[in-house]
Amino acid sequence: MLTIALSKGRIYKETLPLLAQAGIVPAEDPDKSRKLILPTNRDDVQLLVIRATDVPVFVEYGAADLGVAGKDVLVEHGGEGLYEPLDLRISRCRLMTAGPVDYQPSKRRLRIATKYVKAAQRYFSERGQQVEMIKLYGSMELAPLVGLADCIVDLVDTGNTLRANKLEPWELVMEVSSRLVVNKASMKMKHKLVSQLIHDLSEAVDRQAGENG
Ligand code: ATP
Ligand code: PRP
Repeated sequence: MLTIALSKGRIYKETLPLLAQAGIVPAEDPDKSRKLILPTNRDDVQLLVIRATDVPVFVEYGAADLGVAGKDVLVEHGGEGLYEPLDLRISRCRLMTAGPVDYQPSKRRLRIATKYVKAAQRYFSERGQQVEMIKLYGSMELAPLVGLADCIVDLVDTGNTLRANKLEPWELVMEVSSRLVVNKASMKMKHKLVSQLIHDLSEAVDRQAGENG
C-alpha cells in the first residue's frame, strides 16, 4: 500500500491532474466527504487529506509514504528527515519581504511579523541584518497596519492581498513551488512502487510544463 499525504485546497486541486496522469484517481471528493483517508481507483494507493504544515510531519514519521508540500512549509519543517525528489511546479508563488507603501525607515532594529521564521531568519542573517521576529500563524498583512511590526515576510502571488492592505512587495526571499516528498524508509522498502510513481509524476510535470509553454 502507498499512502500519499496532501493538503486540502490549492495543493489538492493542483496535484489531482498530475496524479490522474500517473493513473491515480480519488474515489471521493474531499470537499464533500468527511473522511480523512480517501481511497483511490487503485487498491494499493490511498490519500490522506491533512493540514499543509502537517504533511512533512506525517511523511517524516512514515505515517504517509509520500506527500506534497510547498517549499515554504518544507523549509520551516527543516530538511533532513525526508527525500525531496521532484519539483511538481504547482502552487507557485514567492516568499517576499513586504511593507507599507509609505514606510519611513528608522534606526531602530526592524521588527518582522511572519509565519516563516526560519526562512526569514536565514534571509536577514545572510545580509548581516539584526532583526526582531514575531511569529504569527496567519493574516500577516495586518501586522504593519496596527503597529505590531514594521514589515512582513509572506507569500505573494498576484500581489492583490498586499495592495488591498496598502503594502508593497520589497525583496524576494525565495521562489516557492510544491515538492513531492518521500519517507526515507519507504524509498527503500517500497522502492518499486515509489520509484514508478516518481517517474510517472515527473513525466506528468514535464507534459504540463510543455502545455503551459
Ligand atoms: P494551513 O491550512 O495549514 O494553514 P495554508 O492555508 O497555507 O495551510 P494553502 O493556502 O492551501 O494552505 O497553501 C498551501 C501551499 O500553497 C503553501 O504552503 C504555498 O506553498 C502555496 N501557496 C500559498 N498561497 C499561494 C498563492 N497565493 N499562490 C500560489 N501558491 C500559494
Ligand atoms: C495566500 C498568502 C497570501 C496570499 C497571496 O493566502 O498567505 O496572503 O495568498 O496571494 P496574492 O498575492 O495573489 O494575493 P491564501 O489566499 O491562500 O489564504 P490563506 O491565508 O488562508 O492561506
